[in-house]
Formats: sequence, C-alpha cells, structure tokens
Amino acid sequence: MIILEILEIGNIYIATGICSLLSAIWIMIPAYVPNPAAVLFGGGTPVDLGTKFIDGRRLLGDGKTYRGFVCGVIAGVAAGLAEMHLQAWAGWHALPAHTLLSISLLATGALAGDLVKSFIKRRFRKERGEMWIIADQYDLVLGAFAFLLIFDYEWMSAYLTLPVVVWIILLTPLLHRAANLIGNKIGVKDVPW
Ligand code: CTP
Ligand code: MG
Repeated sequence: MIILEILEIGNIYIATGICSLLSAIWIMIPAYVPNPAAVLFGGGTPVDLGTKFIDGRRLLGDGKTYRGFVCGVIAGVAAGLAEMHLQAWAGWHALPAHTLLSISLLATGALAGDLVKSFIKRRFRKERGEMWIIADQYDLVLGAFAFLLIFDYEWMSAYLTLPVVVWIILLTPLLHRAANLIGNKIGVKDVPW
C-alpha cells in the first residue's frame, strides 16, 4: 500500500516536472531564437555607430548591429507566431498561451538584454567576442523577464511559476552552448561560446 502511494506521488512529481519543462521551452522559444538569428543575419552598421564611452572604449562594439537586432526580433516573433498557430491547430491547451504582446516582449527583451550586457562588458574592458561566463548566457533571460515584468506582468505571473523558472535557469546555458558549438562548426560564429 505504502509503496503504491510512494509510486503514485513519484509519478505526480515526474508529470509535474515534465509539464513545467515543456512550459519552460514553450515560453522561451521567442527569446531563444533571436540570438542565433542575429548571428546568421547580423552585420553592417553597429548600433553604437562606432561611438565611444567616457572610458575611451566602444559603447557596445561591432558585435551589436541594427540588422542583427531587427532580424533577431523578427525571427523570434515569427517563431512565436508559429507556436501560437501550432497550439491552436493541435489543441495543446495545457501549454502556456502566448499572445502577440508576450512573444514581442520576449524577442525584443532578449536582444535588449544582449545590448545591455555588451555595454557592461565593454566597461569591464572585455573585447567583443571575449568569453564572459554567466552574463553571456543569462543576458537574454534577464532582458526577456524584465520586459515581461514591465509591460505584461499579468501574463508573466500567470505562466512563470517557480518550477518553470528553475527549468529556464538549467536549460539556458545548455542550449546556449549547443547553439554556439553548432554555429562555430558550420562557420557562422568565430568562437564556440
Ligand atoms: N549580432 C548582431 N547584432 C546583434 C547581436 C548579435 O549582428 N544585435 C551578431 C554579430 O555578428 C555578433 C554575433 O551575432 O558578433 C554574436 O553575437 P554575440 O555573441 O552576442 O556578440 P559578440 O560578438 O560576442 O559581442 P559581445 O562581446 O559584445 O557580446
Ligand atoms: Mg559573444
């Protein structure tokens, strides 16, 4: 009897865990897509237009371009729209329901976080492309969460539960590493981080 109960409780935990893992991935797709899209389609005029900060270093650096930002946001929103259509078509109502606002905030916030990170990174005298552990991985998460917090707190509080946030914290560095390894292998990224 007790063993059966333990098994049942275990099953409930596993089911809840898998559910929150899938929700984490589903929520974060519009935030995960912009970075690799910026690598693929970026280049050209840098966002800081070459200007320097009072410390004599670049404001953001050549790694942050208008084309990368715009293409990244478009790709993130397109991925979110695809999710919304797929969810409606397949009837996956247990997954978080994205809105046009949530996917736009996640995509824009992810790349805004990336810009803020580069600004701070330059102030710490780190060169463009130099590894900066933790910040390079979590900039997109902090940016995306900050935008949701400011502009759509209702959506955020409905779906960003503690287990979902834990999964996002665990998943993000793994996906970041995998994407950069692939990017480096196929020759679109200079460094594998
Ligand atoms: N990229 C871009 N525009 C952006 C973000 C990224 O064009 N807004 C492109 C750039 O070619 C950049 C590459 O994607 O070099 C990788 O992005 P990231 O790792 O964020 O930039 P880094 O070059 O590492 O620069 P930093 O040190 O400032 O993070
Ligand atoms: Mg980098």
